[in-house]
Amino acid sequence: MNIIELQNLSNKPALYERGTSVMWTDPYISKQLLELHINPDHDVASRSRAKIELVSGWISARLDKPKMEILDLGCGPGLYAELLAGKGHSVTGIDFSAASIQYATKQANEKKLDIKYLNKNYLDLDFDNQFDLVMMIYLDFCALLPEERDRVLENIYRALKKGGLFVCDIVNEKNLDKKTIPQSWEIQEKGFWKDTPYLALTNGYHYPEAKTLANHHIVIGEDNRADTYIFWNHYYEKDDMISILEPKGFTGITNYENVLPESEDCWNGENVTFYVARKA
Ligand SMILES: C[S@@+](CC[C@H](N)C(=O)[O-])C[C@H]1O[C@@H](n2cnc3c(N)ncnc32)[C@H](O)[C@@H]1O
Repeated sequence: MNIIELQNLSNKPALYERGTSVMWTDPYISKQLLELHINPDHDVASRSRAKIELVSGWISARLDKPKMEILDLGCGPGLYAELLAGKGHSVTGIDFSAASIQYATKQANEKKLDIKYLNKNYLDLDFDNQFDLVMMIYLDFCALLPEERDRVLENIYRALKKGGLFVCDIVNEKNLDKKTIPQSWEIQEKGFWKDTPYLALTNGYHYPEAKTLANHHIVIGEDNRADTYIFWNHYYEKDDMISILEPKGFTGITNYENVLPESEDCWNGENVTFYVARKA
C-alpha cells in the first residue's frame, strides 16, 4: 500500500459510508469479542456482570407477570437472556455472531434454561404478535442507520403483542466531546484485529448534521491489504426518540436516566438513557 492510498483511506468517511468488513461476524475477531463479552469485570463488548444484573432486574421489573415472552436482539453470548430466563421468563435471543450463539446455546443447554437462540440478522425479523417485551441492549439501537432503524422498529412492532414493550438504551447528548474517539494507531504481532502482524489506524468523527459519531478503523495486514471498519453511533434526546418511535405506532415513550450507576465511561452512567415504549 502506498502513502497516497493510505491517505485516501484515512479521509473522513462520507456520512453512513460502510466499511469493507464487519467486525461482529469475522471468524477471528468474533472469538476475541466472545472472550471480552464473557469477562465479568469490564464494559467492553458487554457491560460488567454487576451492571448486567442490575439492568436485567430493571427490565424484569417492567413486566407485570412472572412468565413473559422476551425477545433479545443482539443477545451476544446470552448474558441477559440467562438472567431473565432464571427469573422465569421465556427468552428468544438473536445474534448474527456464530461464536456467541454457539457459546450461548451450550450454556443454556447445560443450565437447562428456557431460551431459544437464533443465529441470524436482526434486520430480518419475522415474528408476529408473539412477545411481551423486545429488548436491544448496549447501544445497538444507536448503531442502526436510519433505514435499518425504520425496518427494525417496524419488525419489532409486529413482533410484539398488543401492549407489549420495546426497551433499549441509547447514547445521549451529554459529554459528546468525550464520545468522539481520538486518533490513534497500534502495531501488533497478533491482537484484537488479526492473528498475524497488523497496523491499525483509528480515528473518530462527529457529524452534527445527522447527530451521529463514527469510529473509523483501518487495519493493514502482512499482505498489504487494508480492511476498514466503520461504526456509526447516533446520539438521541427524548424529542428524537419520540419522533422516531411515534410514527411507528409506539406510545407511552418514557426515558430513564439513572438505570446505570455513575461512571466516567462514555457508554455508561449519565451518558446513557434507557427508553421504554409500548405497542398501542
Ligand atoms: C455491543 S454487543 C451487545 C451484546 C449484548 N446485548 C450484551 O449487552 O451483552 C452487540 C451485539 O449485537 C450483535 N449484532 C450487531 N448487529 C447485528 C445484526 N444486524 N443482527 C444480529 N446481531 C447483531 C453483535 O454480534 C453483538 O453480539
